Amino acid sequence: MKAIVFHGIGDIRLDSVREPKIQEQTDAIVRLTASAICGTDLHIIRGTFPGVKPGTVLGHEGVGVVEELGKDVRNLKIGDRVVIPSTICCGYCSYCRAGYTAQCDNANPNGKEAGTAFFGGPATAGAFDGLQAELARIPFAAANLVKLPDEVSDDQAIVLSDIFPTAYFGAELAEIKPGKTVAVFGCGPVGQLCIASAKLMRAGRIFAIDCIESRLDAARAQGAEVIDFNEEDPIAALKRLTGGIGVDRAIDAVGVDAVAPTGGPARKAIGKAEQKAFEEEVETVAPKQKPDGDNWHPGDAPSIVLTWAVTGLAKAGTLSIIGVYPQTAKVFPIGMAMNKNLTLRMGNCNHRAYLPLLIELVRTDAVDPSKLLTQHEPMANAVEAYKEFDRRQPGWIKVELQPQMH
Ligand SMILES: NC(=O)c1ccc[n+]([C@@H]2O[C@H](COP(=O)([O-])OP(=O)(O)OC[C@H]3O[C@@H](n4cnc5c(N)ncnc54)[C@H](O)[C@@H]3O)[C@@H](O)[C@H]2O)c1
Ligand SMILES: [Zn+2]
Ligand SMILES: [Zn+2]
Repeated sequence: MKAIVFHGIGDIRLDSVREPKIQEQTDAIVRLTASAICGTDLHIIRGTFPGVKPGTVLGHEGVGVVEELGKDVRNLKIGDRVVIPSTICCGYCSYCRAGYTAQCDNANPNGKEAGTAFFGGPATAGAFDGLQAELARIPFAAANLVKLPDEVSDDQAIVLSDIFPTAYFGAELAEIKPGKTVAVFGCGPVGQLCIASAKLMRAGRIFAIDCIESRLDAARAQGAEVIDFNEEDPIAALKRLTGGIGVDRAIDAVGVDAVAPTGGPARKAIGKAEQKAFEEEVETVAPKQKPDGDNWHPGDAPSIVLTWAVTGLAKAGTLSIIGVYPQTAKVFPIGMAMNKNLTLRMGNCNHRAYLPLLIELVRTDAVDPSKLLTQHEPMANAVEAYKEFDRRQPGWIKVELQPQMH
């Protein structure tokens, strides 16, 4: 079968690989009918989320049809349409039972302390082959796979696999309550759905910060008040627009590849010492990089969003971090956060725990996340699509891949 395979930092290819087989009686094999490219995949290829073994199939977003079942999967049948949650859980440990499915004790073969297990990720995350493929092996299928109602299309379901749960989780971590003023940093697909989730939670005002016009336009279309950090200082703007107080809630939907402004007053505000500190951070988080022309460049200011969010928050506000950082990232403005009595919440999404609610929101048309899919690409074009998405081409928000070659 064909799949997108990681060969090294800056090197992914569409390869022929062996079809997956049932290994445990709790496994299922799913034939994918939709897959997608995520900002997390970009971190992996840029070198800012390292440790993926060459030969690993990439991708952690998938929808498909059950093709084969181990005999201990009792709730599904061959032919069922399912959504695959990005992170893998066992369904029986105490963490899974409490809804912390991203902190499952059993899904990661490296052990309980090894961290979140997910498809198409680093060796430390279990080295599971991913979902940008024609077929995938799904461990603990009874607990992970969720059957889709007929009313939910593949285009809607692919967004349920990772980014809508992540964004909703991020909004929940931010403790958004009716009337709260929220700042969403990053208007990529995850940021867009953070805005949608904040609206579901009846936020009073939502600010959206990015530097890409088409993404800011999409945020404005959802009713967010947009700030382009290459035009104005985002913190000065947030303060001015909130009577000098700042926002109650902030969400980091950017992660380690955050970039510094290239122009405007926020660029001028970066002094020599701060510039040097950013360069050192990049060395730490991305010791290996392989930029190729204008592709695969790590962000040049890994902690800038964390600093902006802490600065832009009102006293006693809450910061939610769902943007991904590698284990090696250690820079955070702890003193400022401590002295403002901020609450900090963060993590990998507990995807499986959110699916029943979010599937229902989509089925009843409360939210239609498929509007974010600006691109639908056949697998044959996947590598090129990766490059365009990496360059953040105008108008490109979320790329759906069509995994079947025939
Ligand atoms: N926690 C989880 O479980 C989880 C799940 C999925 C994705 N994620 C993470 O969410 C993040 C966003 O994912 P995505 O697919 O939307 O990625 P993306 O790369 O498409 O979007 C990131 C956006 O951030 C913007 N940005 C860069 N620097 C900025 C800055 N200084 N201030 C404001 N905006 C800035 C970029 O212009 C871009 O629009 C990634 O870090 C991804 O790994 C986390
Ligand atoms: Zn993802
Ligand atoms: Zn578990």
